[in-house]
This record gives sequence, C-alpha cells and structure tokens, in this order.
Amino acid sequence: RRGLFGYAGAAGVGGAAGIVGGRAWGLSDAPTPEPPNRVLGQDYSPYGAQQAGIFTPQSQVAELVAFDLLPATDASALGRLMRVWTGDIAALMSGRPAAGDFAPELAQANVSLTALVGFGPGVFELEGLGPSLPAGFQEIPAMTHDRLEDRWNGGDLLIWVTADDATSVSHAVRRLVSDARPFASRRWTQRGFWRPTDASGAAVTGRNLFGQVDGSANPKGDVLEETVLSTDGWLAGGTQLVVRRIEMNLDTWDEATRDRQEASMGRRLSDGAPLTGESEGDDLDLAATADGSTVIALDAHARLAHPSQNRERRMLRRGLNYTHETVVDGAPVDTSGLIFCAFQANIADQFIPVQRSLDQADALNEWTTAIGSAVFVIPPGFSEGGYVGETLLG
Ligand code: HEM
Repeated sequence: RRGLFGYAGAAGVGGAAGIVGGRAWGLSDAPTPEPPNRVLGQDYSPYGAQQAGIFTPQSQVAELVAFDLLPATDASALGRLMRVWTGDIAALMSGRPAAGDFAPELAQANVSLTALVGFGPGVFELEGLGPSLPAGFQEIPAMTHDRLEDRWNGGDLLIWVTADDATSVSHAVRRLVSDARPFASRRWTQRGFWRPTDASGAAVTGRNLFGQVDGSANPKGDVLEETVLSTDGWLAGGTQLVVRRIEMNLDTWDEATRDRQEASMGRRLSDGAPLTGESEGDDLDLAATADGSTVIALDAHARLAHPSQNRERRMLRRGLNYTHETVVDGAPVDTSGLIFCAFQANIADQFIPVQRSLDQADALNEWTTAIGSAVFVIPPGFSEGGYVGETLLG
C-alpha cells in the first residue's frame, strides 16, 4: 500500500537476513528465502497523507508518552515544538540521528521505526484553537466497569513510538521527550509489546495475553479509510485515537475452562476463527444455532462489538500487551493487560456507543478492567518541508 498509507514498504534488509527459519548468518551458502509479508526490518517513510504508525504494520515494541503543556506554551510555541518534533521524526525514521543527538550511534535504519504525534483535549483550550475542536472529539464518559487511575489518564500531547527493538524505541523517545522539555512535561508512559510475525517471519495478526488472536476483524480496504480517516476541516486525512489501559486478570482467566474462554469471545483460541467458521478471516454467523441456543453467545465479546450490532460502527484496533509491576499494601504485584488503542474518524460516533454496549453485557468484563483512559486527535501526515499539525497551527 505504498503512498496511500504513507509508508514506503519493503526496504527490508534483503537476502539472507538475520536468523530466519532457525539458520544463523553465514552458516549456509544457500540464501534463506525471504518470508512473505515481512514486517520486521523495514524503513517506513515519515512523509505521506497519514502519519506513519496508523496503517503501517504493527511492530514489536512500543512506548506511548503523554505530556502536559507547560503554562507558557501557547499555540505558536506548540507550532515550534511540532517543527522540532517533525525534524526529529524525519531523521529517526530514516535511521539518522536527530539534531543535537547525544547518542547518534543508536539511530538505526531498518528497525521499522514509527513515531506518531497526537493532540489531547487541552490543545483546544489554548487561545485561538477552541473553534478547531474536531466534531466528536471528547473524553470517554465513565463506564460501570472502569476503575480509572489518574496516573494513566489524559494528556495534552502524545507521542507513540514503535520499532522492532526496544533500544531504538527508547532512543527515539528520549530525543522527543528531551526536545519537548521547554514546552511540555511527561505525564505518563505506557510500554507495550506485540508479536506481529509467525515463526517464519511472516506477518500475522498477533495475540493478546489471554492467548486470543486479536485484530482479526479490523476493517480493510475502502471500509478501513472510511472508518479511520476524518473529513472534518483541518483534521481531514487525520484521525482520532482512544487509548485505554485495560487490566486483564490472567489468574482467574487461567481458571476458566477453555470452552468458557472461547464462549466469552465467540472465537476459537487455536486460530481465532469464529465458533461458527473455519478460519480467522471468516465473518461471524450470529444467527447460527445449535441445541436451541446461538452458537455465538449473546454476551460474547465479538458479537457485542460486531458492526451489525452497532449500526455499522467500526474502529481500527492496534493493541499492545503490557506487564507491569505495581505495589499493593507494600508488596510487589505483577499485573498484565492490553493497551487498547483504537483509531476512528469520530470518537463520539464510533468508540463510545460500542464501549457502552460492551460495558453493559460483555462476558469479558469478568476478567477485564479499564484503569486508564485518554483521547488524542491525530493530525494528518506531512510532506518534506512541512510539519505535523501544520493544518491546525500553520
Ligand atoms: C474484537 C479482545 C476490548 C472492540 C475482539 C477480538 C478479540 C478482542 C480477541 C476478536 C478478534 C478480532 O476481531 O480482533 C479484546 C480484549 C479486550 C478488548 C482482550 C480488553 C482487554 C475492547 C474494547 C473495544 C473493543 C474496549 C471497544 C470499545 C472490539 C471490536 C472488535 C473486537 C470492534 C471487532 C468485532 C467485529 O468486527 O467482529 N476483541 N477486546 N474491544 N473488539 Fe475487543
């Protein structure tokens, strides 16, 4: 999908790359065949109609950092920060050190690095920017199952950096955070990981920590663009992002039988296929019955989230697994979950109604609890000489 989605595609490292199929560098004369749909080791273009990191394939490591604007940061200062960040992003995504980089050797090509910038609600409270608040952009109203902790909520700005390896992510984040210092302070950091390939290196959907294949029914083709891309004023070609930190109780999940786990989702654990289908890509047959009841339970997550149950509302989900050590009553406790990230053109029309219906009836609620919530407008992409956010701030 070169061009349209703003990434350059398979630059790759070519040839007998790394350790594929268990064979190490130089051990065999025969070239190791390149697996189809490679997603690791890419070089994505920073330029395009959309920012990289929305439609580019998922990579393995991600860090999301939310910032609070400092009181002195007005719209024109924000424009200065966006120019600086754009320069950083263009360099880092091309494998070059950013200006003033103290660790230039850490800038690497072919690590599938992307860095996405978002604006939180606070940006539209800056003088002059109120009228530019995009339609449908709002915080998520309180849900019954939420147990939100302020340390994971909100933010005026977001950077979401992904790459194939944690060193590259950490280096890019450090540069971006450091350049933001005169304008904004770090509010929260969320680190996540994903496994977007199979053993041969070919792209697959990936699994969350419940073991479910997660992302199968994401919109594709024309529906994808309609779902994700805004057509609203300065945001045209951009999108809106919801970030929910959702804790998953793996202890009680492990106690449930496999049948119950699959029934709660309406899909098989082995391959992600619907309980009514043969393979991952099949649509759900919500009407199918067996022994007098629907095969896909009325409270199954995939049923309740299905567009047919939600007036054709969709979103592009791009989740990340996390593990986190936290302290409860003075003792360390390991927690796990999903950094649920969803892009859509309009949060009020898309995410919120689907989330409400899940809040009421989703079987998964037994094991999942939202502990953080944040929303960001994702400005359209930029071209060489331009900068991120220029349609709002220029
Ligand atoms: C589908 C997991 C939270 C919206 C799915 C699927 C899985 C899954 C495994 C089926 C495969 C797929 O299509 O990706 C989870 C887990 C969650 C979670 C583990 C919490 C930890 C949410 C939330 C929303 C949501 C908060 C939105 C409010 C959807 C949608 C689908 C889906 C729209 C696709 C339905 C379809 O088109 O068939 N989820 N999900 N999920 N989920 Fe979730």
